[in-house]
Amino acid sequence: MRFDPMEDGKKATYFRMIESIVPRPIAWVSTISRAGTHNLAPFSFFTGVTSDPATLLFCCGNRRNGDPKDTAQNCIDTGVFVVNCSSYSASQQMVQTSAAYPADIDEFEAAGIDFSPSETVAAPRVRDAAISFECDCHDITEVKNDEGCVTSRIIIGRIKLIHIDDAVLDAQGRVDVRALDAISRLGGHDYARIGEVFTIPRPKREL
Ligand SMILES: Cc1cc2nc3c(=O)[nH]c(=O)nc-3n(C[C@H](O)[C@H](O)[C@H](O)COP(=O)(O)O)c2cc1C
Repeated sequence: MRFDPMEDGKKATYFRMIESIVPRPIAWVSTISRAGTHNLAPFSFFTGVTSDPATLLFCCGNRRNGDPKDTAQNCIDTGVFVVNCSSYSASQQMVQTSAAYPADIDEFEAAGIDFSPSETVAAPRVRDAAISFECDCHDITEVKNDEGCVTSRIIIGRIKLIHIDDAVLDAQGRVDVRALDAISRLGGHDYARIGEVFTIPRPKREL
């Protein structure tokens, strides 16, 4: 089968993309509004960018009414955010924070999640997350559709500080993927935990 996004429409294309681009890591993004309200929401269009400078990105689509989601608005207004890693034990709470709460609701409080102040940015971090990346906004790129409407924003963060819980570090100081118990998003409402792990050494000659 071949699918043309122009013919298929945005809804069907969205489902084909989230079913095909798998597994996706989940950025559990905490922000703070201009008024000081804490916000928390998951984003699986997420990846690292480069280590020099240390950067990562996530993509934040608009609400159905065309307004930016609170996360994007807070990044635009305050220029900071934190990416927290969601482990299996916090997966229910993580999904709870995807509810469309109004901007003046503290989503840490609403979902019963403890926060800690960050050290380098005003946005808080998830206290019990095994890993958190404190970020400044490096760039926010608007993505427009064929009608010229902004439908999403690629939010690139410059990593200022990384918190890693000692409990997920092995004897060599590396993150132990089993201890981290990270989850990924699949299609629909499905998620996955880490299954079999295998190792393939890289070829010796590299350009
Ligand atoms: C696991 C998961 C991953 C998600 N990934 C994205 C994403 O990549 N981009 C996006 O715009 N929304 C994504 N969402 C939906 C947002 O979390 C949801 O719209 C949320 O209400 C946004 O909150 P905010 O308005 O507080 O920013 C995801 C939801 C879940 C449960």
